[in-house]
Amino acid sequence: MSEGARKFTVAVIPGDGIGPEVIAEAKKTVEAAASIENASFEWVEYPFGASHYLKTGEILPGSALNEIGQASAMLLGAIGDPSVKPGILERGILLTLRFVFDQYVNLRPALSLPNVPIPVPVEGKIDSVVVRENTEDIYMGLGGVTRDGKLNIWLELERGGYTLGGGLDINLSSGTPFAAQVGLNTQSGVERITRFACETARKRGEDRVTIVTKSNAAPALYGFFEDIAKETISSEYPGMKSDAVNVDAICYHLVRKPDAYGVLLCPNLFGDIVSDLQAGLAGGMGSAAGGNIGDGLSMFEPVHGSAPDIAGTGRANPIAAILCGAMMMRHLKLEKSADAIESAVHRYLASSPQETRPFEFSGGASCSEVGDAVAAEI
Ligand code: IPM
Ligand code: MN
Repeated sequence: MSEGARKFTVAVIPGDGIGPEVIAEAKKTVEAAASIENASFEWVEYPFGASHYLKTGEILPGSALNEIGQASAMLLGAIGDPSVKPGILERGILLTLRFVFDQYVNLRPALSLPNVPIPVPVEGKIDSVVVRENTEDIYMGLGGVTRDGKLNIWLELERGGYTLGGGLDINLSSGTPFAAQVGLNTQSGVERITRFACETARKRGEDRVTIVTKSNAAPALYGFFEDIAKETISSEYPGMKSDAVNVDAICYHLVRKPDAYGVLLCPNLFGDIVSDLQAGLAGGMGSAAGGNIGDGLSMFEPVHGSAPDIAGTGRANPIAAILCGAMMMRHLKLEKSADAIESAVHRYLASSPQETRPFEFSGGASCSEVGDAVAAEI
């Protein structure tokens, strides 16, 4: 490697189902682009996921977290398998990583791609981005279930900038079984995600942020989010406009006019939902990339899940994971390399005949053939 080469260590959890298949293609294309800016990558793989858990009982040990924290960035394939009860691995691996590394932004762009069929025709292009708060809201983990009408839980947890010590103490008459899950949004949490949304709008050359809310039905939790977001925008970003739109209405408008919005600033839960909707409108999960971004270690991860039904068939679409690789390179300030991957994806999709396109887009190319084709374009 010549003088001045930039070396990056990337922690990788390929995970479950199609995770390892798509991650292999992300690595392949990052490697292909790396020489553009004289960068080199070392990949450090971790086995965590369903099969490791079923074999060893281990979810994500603290020692691995410490090691992962030293990396320049992280790539994650997909976590989740039908053989493990929902929640264990998702919370134990994915959400733990987001929380421990305080990755307070979940950035999920939705972009029209050439020749990718979309369910709702648009006049122009879909080019929007969900800026999802990624550490708070109903994802906080403050909840429980009771069969005897009494819920009394206490927990202590850490988030970026504060610790929470508190709980729930709820009794329902006649011993009625119930469940409760409490959402929590802090002023500092809403402010920082709002700043990120405004910076994102500026980078896109836009002067508007749409705040996705539900302040009519949950005025405490979402009214607060909306108010703090509006205050932050008007006091810190002169010239930036905002509208607040309830999440139900956003879904309605998006389905009718998928190109109507730019930056969508969302609390955690609504961002989860709206980003799937956006991905569907822009051509499918197989091309939806995302980044979990914080001031420390950031983690790049496709929006799609582990898709166990197609795992091992070669039918997985690696485009989302490949675009995650590009996002990761951009985050590492390898802008030209990131541009090269993105434009290679566009050229490949624009020019390749039907049989060499991903299965998801009615083609016949396997996951690794798609990766090869994009790498060749780079
Ligand atoms: C996502 C996923 C996760 C989430 C699940 C697996 C916990 O749906 O990354 O969008 O809800 O954030
Ligand atoms: Mn989701």
